[in-house]
Amino acid sequence: MSTTARKLRVGIVGGGFMGQVHGRSALVAGADVVGAVGSSPERAEAAAGATGAARGFATLDELLAADIDVVHVCTPNNTHLPVTLQALEAGKHVICEKPLATSAKDASGLLAAATEAGAVATVPFVYRYHPMVRELRTRIAEGEAGQVTSLHGSYLQDWLAGENDQNWRVDDEAGGPSRAFADIGSHWCDLTEFVTGDRITEISAQLRTIRATRGGAVVRTEDLASAQFRTAAGVIGTVVVSQVAAGRKNRLYLEVSGTESSFGFDQEDPDRLWVGRRAASQLLTRDPETLSPPAARVNRLPAGHAQGYQDAFDSFVADTYAAVRDDDHPDGLPDFAAGARSARLVDAVLRSAAADGAWTTVENH
Ligand SMILES: NC(=O)c1ccc[n+]([C@@H]2O[C@H](COP(=O)([O-])OP(=O)(O)OC[C@H]3O[C@@H](n4cnc5c(N)ncnc54)[C@H](O)[C@@H]3O)[C@@H](O)[C@H]2O)c1
Repeated sequence: MSTTARKLRVGIVGGGFMGQVHGRSALVAGADVVGAVGSSPERAEAAAGATGAARGFATLDELLAADIDVVHVCTPNNTHLPVTLQALEAGKHVICEKPLATSAKDASGLLAAATEAGAVATVPFVYRYHPMVRELRTRIAEGEAGQVTSLHGSYLQDWLAGENDQNWRVDDEAGGPSRAFADIGSHWCDLTEFVTGDRITEISAQLRTIRATRGGAVVRTEDLASAQFRTAAGVIGTVVVSQVAAGRKNRLYLEVSGTESSFGFDQEDPDRLWVGRRAASQLLTRDPETLSPPAARVNRLPAGHAQGYQDAFDSFVADTYAAVRDDDHPDGLPDFAAGARSARLVDAVLRSAAADGAWTTVENH
C-alpha cells in the first residue's frame, strides 16, 4: 500500500447524493478519480458522470482490479459490509459511509478486518470538520465550561414527513433495523462524544413510526426517536431525532451546558458558536485570526465567506488522504473505531426501545 510521493488514485462506489459529495472532495484534495461503479453495469457511466470519475467500471471486481489506492463506499447501508470487505481484501484503503454496517456485530467485524489489513479506514462523521465544532471541543478540553452539567439537542429533518415519501432507508432490508437514529442520530452522538471527550454509557430510548405505511408498503423503521442518557463522567442528557419534523431540513443542534460557560452549535448555521455565560453571552463568528489552532487547521475560507457542509467534507477527505500518504492519523479523524462505536450506540437504542425504554448499557468493546 505504499503511496508516498504520488498522486492518490481513488474509486467511488455509488453515484447518488454522497457519491457526488465524495467525488467533489476527492478532486479538491488533488486525487485522480479513476473510476466509479453504479448499481448495475448499465449505470456505470452515469455513476462516473455524477462523481466526476474518469470512467465507469461495470463491476466492483473490475474497479478493485484497477490501480487505485482508496475506495469510497457511497451505497445504501446493507451493501457497506460486502463492498468494504471486498475492498479491504483487495488491499485498498477505504472511506465507508455511515452507518458503517447495519448491526454492531458487522461493524466490529469491519473494524477488525481493517485493522488486520493495516488499512486506513474512515467514516464520514463530517460535522467534526466544522471549525466552530473544533473551537467548541478545544474550549471544553481547556476547561472553559467549568463542570459540564448536561447535554441536549436534536437532529430534525422533514423530507420523510409526507405519507408517500419514499427512500431505500425506509426499507429495513436496505437501510437496517434503525432508520432515523442510525441515519442521523448517529451523527449527533458522534459529535457529542467528540466535543466532550466523554462517552454515553446508558440509554433509555423510545421510537415512533408516524407513517405506518408508505405507498402501500408496511414500514418497519422508525420515523423518530427520543433518548435520554448518562455518560461515563456522570453527565445527563437528551436527544430527539426525527425525519418527520415539518420545517426542519437538516437541523443538528447540540448544546453543552456547564457551570461556567455553555455552548450551542447549529449545523445549519455552522460559522457561529454561541457561548453562554451568566454575565454576558457571545455569538462567536468563524474568523481564522481568532480561532484556536485545532479550529484554524480546518478553516478553509477567510472570515465572512460562508463555509459549509461540502467544505467540512473536503477537510475530512483531505485528512483521510493525509493518513494514507503520510501514515499519520490527523487529530479528530473519524475511523472505523468511531463507526463501530456508533453501531453499538444504535444497538443500545434498539434494545432499550424494544424493552419499553428500559435503561440499557452501551456495549464497550
Ligand atoms: N456522512 C454524511 O453526512 C451522509 C449524508 C447522507 C448520506 N450518507 C450515507 O451515504 C450512503 C449513501 O446515501 P445517499 O444519500 O448517497 O443515497 P442515494 O440513494 O442518493 O445514493 C446511493 C447510490 O448507490 C447506488 N447503488 C445501490 N447499490 C449499489 C451497488 N451495489 N453498487 C454501486 N452502487 C449502488 C444507487 O443506485 C444510488 O445511486 C448511505 O449509507 C447514507 O447513510 C452519509
